[in-house]
Amino acid sequence: MIGKIRIFFAAVFFMAGFMSYGGENERQQTVGDGIKIGLSMDSLRVERWRKDRDIFMKRAKVLGAEVIVQHADGDARRQNEQAENMITQGVDVLVVIPKDGVAAAQIVEIAHKEGVKVLAYDRLIMKSDVDLYISFDNEQVGYLQAEYIARKIPKGNYFLLGGAPTDNNAHLLRKGQMRALQPLIDRGEIRVVAKQWAIDWDARDALKKTEQVLTRHDNRIDAVVASNDGTAGGVIQALDAQKLAGKVPVSGQDAEKAACQRILAGTQAMTVYKPIHLIAITAAEAAVALAKGDAIPQATQTVNNDKTEVPAILLTPIQVDKDNLDVVIDDGFHKREDIYKKK
Ligand code: GAL
Repeated sequence: MIGKIRIFFAAVFFMAGFMSYGGENERQQTVGDGIKIGLSMDSLRVERWRKDRDIFMKRAKVLGAEVIVQHADGDARRQNEQAENMITQGVDVLVVIPKDGVAAAQIVEIAHKEGVKVLAYDRLIMKSDVDLYISFDNEQVGYLQAEYIARKIPKGNYFLLGGAPTDNNAHLLRKGQMRALQPLIDRGEIRVVAKQWAIDWDARDALKKTEQVLTRHDNRIDAVVASNDGTAGGVIQALDAQKLAGKVPVSGQDAEKAACQRILAGTQAMTVYKPIHLIAITAAEAAVALAKGDAIPQATQTVNNDKTEVPAILLTPIQVDKDNLDVVIDDGFHKREDIYKKK
């Protein structure tokens, strides 16, 4: 009998050890057994989001949770309907990448009525009592973009191309960009001649808006602060048509494959790499914890969403140019042959 008890306690400690170290051991299957997570995504149009989805789902599965995933193809109303539908299907927790940070507040309201907690993934849900926010430090992303470009072009005419105005991240990025540029603007060294937003982070909209800005300013644009790689692609296409690609530095974000290739080719100056596995794994673990009613000790900060201070986990972004591009390869984000191969 004593022997059996001893074996029982040994087994309990053994399993507790695995759980606390977060290893992907099969024994963890018991952690989130029976938990159902709803993952509601804006769209899959930008390359990174498939990675977010796949890594999130893999981690949740290892933790023993089931995941239902839906993406709204860029339609905020559809996203709200899909989220509501997932609540009806009995999810224990919702993880939302909102298309529209304000419109998604309704998701939180409905979820809370049904006792379902909501985690805002990458993009904040505004004016709501959303339970947790996990993202990268987006203001810092913006700072890294503009700081880099300003080091290359400390004087001249700047075009700031923001992301989707419906995405809170786009505004945080602009705030960080201005923090880097303001001292140079104040000294009269940098002139921001145009500020725009790319609807839905769309590369074609970025192309169109850059063409207009180039025309309006007789091509006298010395630098472009673009807020992500997709829109940077549109900017560079417009610059290329005026034989300016590679002459006018352009920033980006996401370390997309095409952007890494452009950095090597010299048409894009830099990108900001955000290790997607970190956000996806952290979010899957936090989603399971929220579903179980556990505390989230990693949420050591808060972010204001115009209603309340939301507990937050903000991860660190990395500035990348041709000199340290191998970071994305060493981290397993891209394969060397995919980036270095000719297009
Ligand atoms: C932002 C995100 C970026 C980029 C963009 C377009 O919210 O932070 O990494 O992917 O959306 O999807």
